[in-house]
Amino acid sequence: MTTIKETWKTLGYIDEPVPEGIDLKAEIRKLCQEKNAIILAHYYTEGVIQDIADFIGDSLALARKAAKTDADIIVMCGVHFMGETNKILCPEKKVLIPDLNATCSLAESCPAKEFAEFVHSHPDHTVISYVNTSAATKAVTDVVVTSGNAKQIVESFPKDEKIIFGPDRNLGAYINSITGRNMLLWDGACHVHERFSVEKLVALKQQYPEAKVLVHPECRGPIVKLADVVGSTAALLKYAVTADTKTFLVVTESGILHEMQKQCPDKQFIPVPPDDSTCGCNECNFMKLVTLKKVYNTLRYEWPTVEVPADIAKAAVRPINHMLQLSEQLGL
Ligand code: 13P
Repeated sequence: MTTIKETWKTLGYIDEPVPEGIDLKAEIRKLCQEKNAIILAHYYTEGVIQDIADFIGDSLALARKAAKTDADIIVMCGVHFMGETNKILCPEKKVLIPDLNATCSLAESCPAKEFAEFVHSHPDHTVISYVNTSAATKAVTDVVVTSGNAKQIVESFPKDEKIIFGPDRNLGAYINSITGRNMLLWDGACHVHERFSVEKLVALKQQYPEAKVLVHPECRGPIVKLADVVGSTAALLKYAVTADTKTFLVVTESGILHEMQKQCPDKQFIPVPPDDSTCGCNECNFMKLVTLKKVYNTLRYEWPTVEVPADIAKAAVRPINHMLQLSEQLGL
């Protein structure tokens, strides 16, 4: 007979009914307190998840927060590589992720074995990997970057440094264009950011000529060319909060609109649609797998845990710490 735990393992998350009539949000907060747990959430998760989190941020801020927390349990509301980064930085802590199916198309586009072969065939190159990679890919990397520090970290290397940049060809091409570098790019991409439509963005710019265009650097080059601001989720949010402008066209995963609208209730944020849809919602289906019910059950049963094999964690912690140290030194 299949046990409940075997069913969970097959599903990748806990499919248990929650007690009827309970206030899920209050119960989640209560469990956090009882278990000394912290909830970290990425801006792309559902608004309701961002609202119950102890901390929301971009990839860099989430890694920093994990490295510094004194909680015993970290619940990472995001995708799997974020949980892995937390576990690598805090091996003694229990790291939970509400749904093991929450992978990342960018990380998936860079299988560790193939990337390692690519790296080994270019022994004279320094390897820079975007944080959206598996722990095994990070293990063959010299320094990790996020969209919040990639430019400055690339520029911290001599101009003639030979560099491999993986896995995001769009972010890599953007960094090449603003730094004058010629990094060798891995051919990966994010399935959400690849889908934005130039035609629809141009039409919206005509409809809202006063709007500023906020673009994530994982977008394709022709989209980036139409941007007023290119930056990480946190950088786009910061710009939206501080700019005098009242209207923004947002070209990244639409989950970020929740915090933008919350911090700027008097401003208008218009999500730019993907090319194959008429709705404004370009969503990451993996981020949206995180639900309140799963967060509650994850805390209740302390499963699924994120595990990283010791040899991989030992090799992957070096480039992650390298990034954190460089970011600190560069004042980022
Ligand atoms: P940032 O939040 O660091 O901009 O990254 C976005 C992303 O790709 C998350 O998977």
